[in-house]
Amino acid sequence: MKKRMEANDGEGYKRESEILYAGGFIPDLGLKPETVPCFLTTAFVMDDLSEALEVKKKRGYTYIRTANPNRTALAQAVSYLEGGESSLIFSSGMGAITTALITLLAPGDHVICNEDIYGETFEVMTKVMSKMSVDVEFMDLANPAAVKKAIRPATKMIYTEVISNPTLTLADLRSLAAIIHETKGVLMVDNTFTTPLAIRPLDFGADLVMNSLTKFLNGHSDAMGGSITARAEIIDKIQPFSMLCGTPGDPFSSWLIYRGLHTVELRVPKQMTTAAKLAEALRADKRVIAVNHPSLPDYPQRQLAAEMFVDQGRSAMLSFTVAEDIERIDRFMANLHFAHYAPTLGGIRTSLSHPVTSSHYNVPDAIRRQRGITPGMIRVSVGIENADDLINDFRRALEIFN
Ligand SMILES: Cc1ncc(COP(=O)(O)O)c(C=O)c1O
Repeated sequence: MKKRMEANDGEGYKRESEILYAGGFIPDLGLKPETVPCFLTTAFVMDDLSEALEVKKKRGYTYIRTANPNRTALAQAVSYLEGGESSLIFSSGMGAITTALITLLAPGDHVICNEDIYGETFEVMTKVMSKMSVDVEFMDLANPAAVKKAIRPATKMIYTEVISNPTLTLADLRSLAAIIHETKGVLMVDNTFTTPLAIRPLDFGADLVMNSLTKFLNGHSDAMGGSITARAEIIDKIQPFSMLCGTPGDPFSSWLIYRGLHTVELRVPKQMTTAAKLAEALRADKRVIAVNHPSLPDYPQRQLAAEMFVDQGRSAMLSFTVAEDIERIDRFMANLHFAHYAPTLGGIRTSLSHPVTSSHYNVPDAIRRQRGITPGMIRVSVGIENADDLINDFRRALEIFN
């Protein structure tokens, strides 16, 4: 039988070739399916007790919550993309975050967390971590000197997203990793907005990278999942907690995400390039007050972006600001043919959100304004539509603001 190629086999093939095979080999199968089938089974049968012991010893497939081939296949593909040693697959991005934090932190520990993070991660940091007596300090991580000053002997983790929502402010991962490694703590990074196609945080010194697989990596807006990628020693600590907390991903969602992941190389670079083109077009439009995207010449962290991103597009997310007129914003959204309001991101169809009435609803207006988030701000997750069609559609809909 022809050996199934495995990603990362050292042959130096391109990612678009290797991602098609990463995780595709399921050992002990007996059959030779062309793609990974969905293993909708709660358990695997053991012929006798010696087989039961042997499977347990080699950490093979026993019960669905402990291990499942669809999670294994997806984990291998995510490890390949993130350039990490090992990955775990969770029921959601939030499942990944909470399980990792619960595993790695203990009462009395101190965490430095970017103040500008996803709202529900913020709630985990406040509501869940306080129950564990973990002291979480929120800071503007753009100032590494202040972060260094805030480090205490009890600081065990710095937590950040690569790029913040919705203003797309970058965290300097290399500096943060150097700071936290001085005290033997870990840097945990959420790569959901950026994806491993734009940046691999482990290459910048991060110890754990998290992805909400619900977003770009699946890409089809039809499944929920999350991942953590790290050194095997860290993953081996998190796996039993995930099993105990019941946070592993289910086989069907893992299968759907694994299927979606195979076209990530066709989708995400195109989405990022289109986002850069749309950002440029919006910036040139007189009806638009401001545009945030790391490809723009006036992006405040342009030098850092050039050092960190491998792709010119840099992110398929962008935000822009129009007049603070909710009624006209509603009409603008209704006027768009393609982009539609949906409280998600990362799909193949362009979607919009309005931070002031959604993700940042609970943030006081003065703080929002300090961060450049006004009621006129719209966040865009760019899909795979034709770039000119998308730009023309935005231009036409913006006529509401003439
Ligand atoms: C940046 C970021 N991190 C984490 C999550 C949580 O992911 P999930 O919805 O898969 O739990 C989200 C969800 O929108 C997100 O935007």
